[in-house]
Amino acid sequence: MKTRKFLMPVFLGTMLLFLPGLVFCQSRVETGNYQPELGQAGKDVIWYPTPMSLVDTMISMAKLTPDDFLIDLGSGDGRIVIAAARRGIRAEGVEFNPKMVEFSKENAAREGVAGKTNFVKADFYEYDLSKATVITMFLLPEINRKLRPKLLALKPGTRIITNTFSMQDWPYDDMKVIDDESISWNTAYLWIVPAKVEGTWKSDIGELILTQKFQTVSGTMKKGWRYYDISNGKLLGNMFSFTCNKVNYKCRVEDNLMTGTAENNGELTPWKAVKLE
Ligand SMILES: C[S@@+](CC[C@H](N)C(=O)[O-])C[C@H]1O[C@@H](n2cnc3c(N)ncnc32)[C@H](O)[C@@H]1O
Repeated sequence: MKTRKFLMPVFLGTMLLFLPGLVFCQSRVETGNYQPELGQAGKDVIWYPTPMSLVDTMISMAKLTPDDFLIDLGSGDGRIVIAAARRGIRAEGVEFNPKMVEFSKENAAREGVAGKTNFVKADFYEYDLSKATVITMFLLPEINRKLRPKLLALKPGTRIITNTFSMQDWPYDDMKVIDDESISWNTAYLWIVPAKVEGTWKSDIGELILTQKFQTVSGTMKKGWRYYDISNGKLLGNMFSFTCNKVNYKCRVEDNLMTGTAENNGELTPWKAVKLE
């Protein structure tokens, strides 16, 4: 059973990669009562739907609030968008196949969420994602890699959730596996777009010189002529925490300003830093 569990995603991953060409040859064209076919061609990846139990997991990992705006890249039959809208969230699907766009609109209307949803016929590489606070994707590792700069440029705190595929060396912030042997695509990953903190920051306590790799931050604090290493430097969206010289700092980053607290032996004092360069 374990071997089957391992081999199924490999098999289906291979299908996602190679089926577009094969299905193109069949060129199934339908009008009227359109019914998509599993594995049908897509511009950069075939259509294969996320199992509904994983859709629910992906959406719960986003910890949606009424102010959120979700965009599903390559939205297929619209199921993730519709599921988000059913939780009262405005949601949009970006899908290259115009028939799938119409099909999704019909599905949304049938589910009573037409007013909360929007489906756009567009290429996700070209589409403006700036209004998104949550992005969902069931694409391929290579596509995720190409989209990564665009995703990292989104507002800090934007949640990105994928079905199964990684972002290479950008470590995920959370993951969940669905305990269901019958589901091949059973893993959801979450990334939270980190604020940009690399550079030099000035505070009352000293000067912070920070280096950043995705959500991981390292560097030093310069106090007079002494340098102290910072440890446990971690960004969760706008929230930045680190330890330096046995003091734990927790702050919120807004553009060129960090404001928060320094905790020393259980005693909290306000702390702030301003970016110099
Ligand atoms: C694996 S399916 C995922 C569908 C849906 N997101 C889900 O999870 O059920 C990928 C979808 O991406 C669409 N697609 C492929 N390349 C695209 C592109 N460049 N721009 C927009 N959509 C694309 C395909 O037509 C297909 O519907």
